[in-house]
Amino acid sequence: MCGIIAYAGHAPAAPELFEGLRKLEYRGYDSAGITTLDRGRLYTAKRAGTVEGLRVDLNNLCGTVGIGHTRWATHGAATAANAHPHVYGRFSVVHNGIIENYSELRSELISAGHAFSSETDSEVIAHLLDVYYDGDPVDALRLTCARLKGCWAIAALCTEFDGYIVTRRGSPVILGRGKGNYAASDIYALSGRAEKYSIPEEGDFALVTPDKITIFDEHLNEVVRPFDILKSNFSEVGTDDCPHYMLKEIRENARTMRATCRAFSSLDLSAVRTRLKCADKIVLIGCGTAYNSALAGVRLLGGAYDCPVSAHIASEARYNPPRVTGRSVCIAVSQSGETADTIMAARIAREAGAYLIAMTNVGYSAITRIADFVLPVCAGAEICVAATKSYIGQLACFHLLSAGTSPSVRDCALENISKKVEEIALDDTYAPGIAKLCVQSRAVFFLGRGYDVDVATEASLKLKEVSYIFSDGYPAGELKHGTLALVDESVLSIVIICDGALAEKSKNAVEQILSRGGKVAVVTTLPPIYAALSGRVQAVWLLPEVPSHLSHFLSSTALQLVAYHAALFAGHNPDKPRNLAKSVTVE
Ligand code: F6R
Repeated sequence: MCGIIAYAGHAPAAPELFEGLRKLEYRGYDSAGITTLDRGRLYTAKRAGTVEGLRVDLNNLCGTVGIGHTRWATHGAATAANAHPHVYGRFSVVHNGIIENYSELRSELISAGHAFSSETDSEVIAHLLDVYYDGDPVDALRLTCARLKGCWAIAALCTEFDGYIVTRRGSPVILGRGKGNYAASDIYALSGRAEKYSIPEEGDFALVTPDKITIFDEHLNEVVRPFDILKSNFSEVGTDDCPHYMLKEIRENARTMRATCRAFSSLDLSAVRTRLKCADKIVLIGCGTAYNSALAGVRLLGGAYDCPVSAHIASEARYNPPRVTGRSVCIAVSQSGETADTIMAARIAREAGAYLIAMTNVGYSAITRIADFVLPVCAGAEICVAATKSYIGQLACFHLLSAGTSPSVRDCALENISKKVEEIALDDTYAPGIAKLCVQSRAVFFLGRGYDVDVATEASLKLKEVSYIFSDGYPAGELKHGTLALVDESVLSIVIICDGALAEKSKNAVEQILSRGGKVAVVTTLPPIYAALSGRVQAVWLLPEVPSHLSHFLSSTALQLVAYHAALFAGHNPDKPRNLAKSVTVE
């Protein structure tokens, strides 16, 4: 989604904001803008395209106070006019979220003589601020928010105040103190700058000057919110030696597994395990990749606990919630912890009595604030829009939660697997060849059975996201019930055969495709399958042999690499897929 950064300090604001925007760019990258404030005058630069485009404007943006924004378009095309900040009268505004009643507000303001310069929902905020301003910018913001429906994080400048104002409802904002006073959509933008951070409560307002941050509750009573030390330096936010974040992050899969194991061993899980053992049902919810990891979670938890386990797509579950009771456990899976649909579905389950566990990569995120317990996915900053290492971390979490063995035994199993994952992530022998087959194909099917079908579903999402090749993940046994009609020489089927119990069945699917002239690539951990299919299909990638229930760490890593190389062959930047953004904080 969009990214917000604000700065008030004693150094020039524009370079501070520019660097912050570069770190936030993964949240949205279709346009960007900055406004600075100097002696009562606003200086604004906005451009369609990447943050880098603003570099030429930096010298013209005067002052030591300012706001910046990187946009992922929801209302209005990705043009400079629609880019934030939106300036009206005395105010300049950046907004992340959605103003649901913007068209009514816009009509009302137009009738009152206001002229709009963008098609966005956000611009109404600048107009309302100017209407309600009566010498107190925070009060103007309170009155403005009272008119809004939807969700928002807002930062605004006012020509009559040497600082900025901030508020949030339903969208994230973090305040930071360090070499100046900051506000940002996420903590990565503050790394290296802020020494302490604080997460305002929903509905809080902050008045920020170069020397002070004053926080008010929704009734404008001054309140004290804790500022914690910003411990991590988020050194992982660079690409290291890798050309893209996606590759770098795939190479961090093994580290994520180990870090997640370590984090679990220091957690007291007794309450969680008791809840799971006594549960009448376990419902898992998530979106996209997080939902796909929940599919694996169903298999793993289903084998460990004596109750029904089901996975639900959050955007459906929030309108058609799975029935839960006071004995149910709901696990909300979310890398960012900010996905609006997941938060809403989780909230509904909790209100209906379920014990809510948040499985997330971001410890201070919104989902953690409504959960009874937080399970950490220790992937570190995931910057590439396509989720890779967080998926592997979620799988590790489900393993750790479902393992009945002693911590040392299960950690050892994951530790051993992580070494193999590391080797696969560094291997570029097979992935480029299979990726080339993908880009030469009209469509790609990922097929598997048992553990492998969950891998197929996620591998398909990854490929379509970054290469834009049409793809579907499918149970291999369903092929003959319809999909086989689509198979011909222009379609590639990638068959995952790692679930030993079902390997022969999956091999049958390969035979069915070959006999209809389809192209096949196989990813397997099973030497007999390799021996039987080598030379008969277009490609076979033999992974190290591991128990079936652990094989998804290996096969998923391999197929993440295939998606990465397919994006490169197709000429796309894998880190910034078109039309997508990380952390979907709107509904
Ligand atoms: C896919 C991807 C998305 C996210 C989904 C949920 O690569 O990144 O499908 O998985 O938007 O996001 P989180 O996990 O942050 O709730």
